[in-house]
Amino acid sequence: MANVKEEILKKVKGWAGYVDAKLGFRNHWYPVAFGKDIDEGQPQKIKLLGEDLLVSRVNGKLFCIKDRCLHRGVSFSVKIESYTPETITCWYHGWTYRWEDGLLSDIITNPESIQIGKQRVKVYPVQEAKGCVFIFLGDIDPPPLVTDVPPTFLDDDMVICGQNKIVHSNWRLAAENGFDPAHIFIHKDSVLIKGNDLALPLGFAPKGDAKMRTRIVEDDEEQGAKGVFDLLAEASVPVFEGKIDGKVVRTGNFGHNRVANNISIWLPGVLRVQPFPDPATTQFEWYVPVDENSHYYFQTIGKRCASPAEEQVYMEEFNTKWRAMALDGFNNDDVWAREAMVGFYADDEGWLKEILFEADSAIVDWRKLCSKHNRGVQTQEHIKA
Ligand code: FES
Ligand SMILES: [Fe+2]
Repeated sequence: MANVKEEILKKVKGWAGYVDAKLGFRNHWYPVAFGKDIDEGQPQKIKLLGEDLLVSRVNGKLFCIKDRCLHRGVSFSVKIESYTPETITCWYHGWTYRWEDGLLSDIITNPESIQIGKQRVKVYPVQEAKGCVFIFLGDIDPPPLVTDVPPTFLDDDMVICGQNKIVHSNWRLAAENGFDPAHIFIHKDSVLIKGNDLALPLGFAPKGDAKMRTRIVEDDEEQGAKGVFDLLAEASVPVFEGKIDGKVVRTGNFGHNRVANNISIWLPGVLRVQPFPDPATTQFEWYVPVDENSHYYFQTIGKRCASPAEEQVYMEEFNTKWRAMALDGFNNDDVWAREAMVGFYADDEGWLKEILFEADSAIVDWRKLCSKHNRGVQTQEHIKA
């Protein structure tokens, strides 16, 4: 642990591992792109947990190597050169590496070099699932993908559509906003509410035991994924009348469609909102650490489809309706909310100065879960290695 000052980490005993993880958790699977966007022989630059990477499709299969030549440390991506499908050649002195295992297999400028066959550039496992490209940013034998995705995401009949963008806030501010039960206040004027006739309160007044507000999933339940369910909707009275000084100043939304009554967040940073944005769909969204100041907002909406014809109809509906009305129209308010927290947490003091209230027990449980079950904290040493 070394990303945050020791005196700050000492004061956040319950979740020091999380506060230190400004670069994300190593040894987990992360989605970085959609498979349809990576064509054969067209390597793409990606930054993940601070590391510059190249992802390429070779004979249909995806591979990922660290975008840095072993010789003089330059990025291959400055000028991509590839003379066989299975290799990438550094533009500078012709060192040539295999996509599959990173082995330095040839050096064009000196075929007799003693370095040939002796050096290896770092490679990371890649897996395509549900049309999404997942990279295992780690060093251990990768556990199955199912341990790093929310339950139901990989179900056979679940059809996934989505989009990916870069947002300029730390990944944790994104995760906490997404899982924040009281943040729905920012969505009160969303186009989606009228557009899809949604019921949405302004907030929740908790009743009873604080322990009833969440359910923590660990110890090999649910195929090994670790997560927290937000149960506040059941353990509270929804607030539909916002009052100041006893007078109603704002009301919630009384649409007919009930959504988002099952919300959970999972390591390494993926939220499941069920159902959403429609009673027949589920939203799965990842907050993937790019570096300490930005993340990929990898948004997907899944719908169970019984046939290819249904699948076709859903994909059409996603493109004409849900992408604009939900992933942009609704979630763009989340994007500026995350960016608005950046200043307060930038020097790490926000983790000490924040003053939390009842609804935040969901966020606290998420922080503790992460601190307990992450597979490693990414550091600058990993990036330089
Ligand atoms: S820096 Fe890459 S071959 Fe010399
Ligand atoms: Fe939101």
